Amino acid sequence: MDTPLPYVFDRLRTEATALIAATGLVAPGSINLAEPKANVPADLAFPVFASAKDAGTNPNDFAKRLADAVTLSPDSLFARVEPAGGFVNFSVRPDVFASAVLADIEVRGNAYGEDKTVGKGNTVIVEYSSPNIAKKLHVGSLRTTVIGHSLYLILKSLGYNVIGDNHLGDWGTQFGYILAAIHDKGFTPWDDPNPVPALMKIYADYNNEAESNPSIKDNARAWFKKLEDGDPWARETWQRIITLSLAEFDKTYSRLDIRFDTQVGESFFEPVLDQVIQEAIDKGVATAEPNGPVAVDFGEKLPSCLLRKTDGGTLYQTRDLATVLYRWREYHPTRNIYVVGAEQRLHFQQVFEIARRMGYVEIADRSVHIPNGMVTKADGDRFRARKGEVIFADEILDEAAVRAEAVMRQQIADGKSEVSESEIDAISELLGVGAVIYSDLHQGPDRNIQFDWDKMLALNGNTATYNQYMHARCKSILRKAPVGLPTADPRILTAPEEQAVLKHLARLPQAVRDAGEKFLPATVAEWTYTLAKEFSRFYDKCPVLKAETDELKAARLAIVAASAQGLKNGLALLGIGVPDRM
Ligand code: ARG
Repeated sequence: MDTPLPYVFDRLRTEATALIAATGLVAPGSINLAEPKANVPADLAFPVFASAKDAGTNPNDFAKRLADAVTLSPDSLFARVEPAGGFVNFSVRPDVFASAVLADIEVRGNAYGEDKTVGKGNTVIVEYSSPNIAKKLHVGSLRTTVIGHSLYLILKSLGYNVIGDNHLGDWGTQFGYILAAIHDKGFTPWDDPNPVPALMKIYADYNNEAESNPSIKDNARAWFKKLEDGDPWARETWQRIITLSLAEFDKTYSRLDIRFDTQVGESFFEPVLDQVIQEAIDKGVATAEPNGPVAVDFGEKLPSCLLRKTDGGTLYQTRDLATVLYRWREYHPTRNIYVVGAEQRLHFQQVFEIARRMGYVEIADRSVHIPNGMVTKADGDRFRARKGEVIFADEILDEAAVRAEAVMRQQIADGKSEVSESEIDAISELLGVGAVIYSDLHQGPDRNIQFDWDKMLALNGNTATYNQYMHARCKSILRKAPVGLPTADPRILTAPEEQAVLKHLARLPQAVRDAGEKFLPATVAEWTYTLAKEFSRFYDKCPVLKAETDELKAARLAIVAASAQGLKNGLALLGIGVPDRM
């Protein structure tokens, strides 16, 4: 296939830059274009202040002189180049622009929006989900899963070599309790139809018992030590627990269509921890205290932390330090991204700072923690209302699908839907999962969010459902298109509502780049929502199937098809699928 032309969004900038350069009035290196303010009826602006100063004239005069000096060729993407105060404004030629945008989308199809040149040759690690073994995925890990996965998709579409890493919490003293309980009480969680909840109960009960019976603690500690020392039964049982847990996680991951490139858990680093601690000591970053612990003192900068406990055991920090060093050696990533709850902010600051002090400055600079805010119920209560009462990811997805089904059935009852009985399950799943994903990521990751089912599944509003609904609407229009229409000629699409949709469609590639640069999937969500709204405005004002002429019908249908493609592609980057009917 021929390489497609650059995106029209970029061609506009390239042409405007060339037009300005051709006047010889502005040094080529100082042509920085800007977005016109929202109330300015233009598509690109060149602020002339710096160039006017260089030329020793006032900006208004300079802008006039520059605009006069620009000559547009007949096939230019621009219709007008005009001075406005200290700016030279560029306005597109609606007919040429319409053809160019629609061609961009048609040629690229599902690839519209991606730009593999941005990240070419660079490796990025995105760590997300990272649940603890022997526990179920909870509402918080669901959020990091969703945000991280979208970031993964966005960076991939920008051509980065992305490594999606699920950093499993498969190590720690809790395994001592579980092993002890299984060993002493003969539990067989693998025979339980719900093995992970069974494991959670084993742990919780034994932990409770330990409160009144301190010898249990010693027993658990002893079992964890056996695990560390490679006791065959302990290892085998632990491995079984991991396998059970992963099978459980995978059910949720597959509902979300999520995969990882690597799942290197905390235990993987166990063999190198002594070495890492020693290196930190040798480099004067950590201090071995007389009675055993190894501590890092950050002075004023951060609260101090331990790399080794008094009993000789290692910590979460130690394992993350080993992880960051490993990732550097193994991948040399340009970015090492952790999508993890905001409550771990200090933890990552400490880990990155230790790496920096140990001389691993590059990876310290390239490591980013994207802190996720809390998820609460609509009434603002934490999900974790009582000790031990947590809402789990699969329950949320189940409830979402049930509620989505109710929405669908209402639509059918109201005669507003083309969905048949046999499609309801699959569509409800897409809508339910989509609603949860969108609610988790359409605001900044650091924002605390509330789960409000009615809002999340609203057919009108900033929801996945609304975006999916607009997509289905486009598809419905396309299905009803009469056969035998003339080939679409987009040059007649000059009405303001038509142009507004096209202009927004043209921005997807830039929205994706912005999202990748800021590690912010919400940027793409905002783009899809705006597209849905622009499309709806267009559809209200510009009849498609009832357009006055067949030519107009055909051309407007091309906008409908492009909008469907845009919504599909934008939502796909969020990890959200679209049904063709709703
Ligand atoms: N397993 C941890 C938890 O559930 C999150 C791990 C985050 N990632 C990391 N590299 N520390 O709290």
